Amino acid sequence: MKYLFILGRNPELSEAELKYYFNPKIESKDKEILILETDKLPNIDELGGTIKIAKIISETKDLEEMEKNILSTELFAYSSNKPFFYITDYNPYYFEDIENIIKYYFKKNKFKAIYKKPKSKLKKTSPTELIKNNFPDNCTELIVYKHFIAKTIQVTNPFLLEQRDELRPCPDFLQSISLRLAKILINLTGIKQNQVLLDPFCGTGTLLQEALLRNINVIGIDKEKTMINKAERNLKWLKKNYKINNYHKLYTSLCKELSTFIPQNSIDAVATEPFMGPYFANYQKEEIIIKTINYLTQIYQSLFLELEKILKKDKRCVMIFPIFISNTNKKYYLDLRKILTKKFKIIDSIPYYKPGKMILLREVKLIEKIKL
Ligand SMILES: C[S@@+](CC[C@H](N)C(=O)[O-])C[C@H]1O[C@@H](n2cnc3c(N)ncnc32)[C@H](O)[C@@H]1O
Repeated sequence: MKYLFILGRNPELSEAELKYYFNPKIESKDKEILILETDKLPNIDELGGTIKIAKIISETKDLEEMEKNILSTELFAYSSNKPFFYITDYNPYYFEDIENIIKYYFKKNKFKAIYKKPKSKLKKTSPTELIKNNFPDNCTELIVYKHFIAKTIQVTNPFLLEQRDELRPCPDFLQSISLRLAKILINLTGIKQNQVLLDPFCGTGTLLQEALLRNINVIGIDKEKTMINKAERNLKWLKKNYKINNYHKLYTSLCKELSTFIPQNSIDAVATEPFMGPYFANYQKEEIIIKTINYLTQIYQSLFLELEKILKKDKRCVMIFPIFISNTNKKYYLDLRKILTKKFKIIDSIPYYKPGKMILLREVKLIEKIKL
């Protein structure tokens, strides 16, 4: 089956998530639009980087054929008596034609739907708008991209994420990663249900909570006792409010001491946004950046010495690395040759952009412990 995926604000990272999560056959990509083929479609709630999934119902340039394809598709759930109808158009070339076909469809089927005409031709219908109008039961969207026409079948529900983010007892909007990024990092590890995932810089436990929701056992480490207490409260809240059968273990510790309490070869995956140095509000001088990089290198080096012992062979550590930009606009990277032991190899590296001032860039590295 062929699908059109609308990706989130980091398309490269979203695409990598799909590749490592279910390895679809990608036919084409164009910024946030991906056309792919798969017979095992994931549930969009499992993905952090996909906004909409739409099934391709027509891919012909011939207008008559296009009309036939649209008219033979079941566009509306017939239980709904006055559904909403949207067209999201990524290429206004066919817009009027499709609009006319749909109007004809309504008339022919004596169907009453509320057509929500986009304010401008290129206006995209947001998931929020669709969910508010009770998607999919009471709401249909067609996505038009080049000559492809696709019917939206899954939409991310921003309200569920917001709720989970805001209602937990100890949210930490400053240091914590977003739920979406947490899901992406977990999916990039390739971990399976009931295996064990470690976050060695767990903070208030955002990444751990998203893993628990996916039936994964989790271990979280943080050097601050206050952080571990907050993570414990958050995860207890999660277990009370969601159906979770897997275990969580939390330890106050430096990451250089992991192997003193975690058994050898017992971890199936590591995913983390680590400590990335002090918060900089402005571009810094070279000396300060080099000092920060040296400090971080030591911490990360000690982490990988420990991961060599506790991570199973062939398994992955997915970690965000900082890239610093100086006041002379020069980029500074950490040298991974100094950080990784010989037992690790980098298998992929993907840039990750955060909105706002670009003082600190980030890249996500997929690092595998080799088999030997
Ligand atoms: C960016 S936050 C982590 C965010 C977290 N991964 C999440 O899911 O939201 C970094 C955390 O690393 C902790 N930390 C800093 N240095 C550490 C070290 N050497 N060992 C373990 N934890 C450390 C800090 O206390 C802080 O809570």
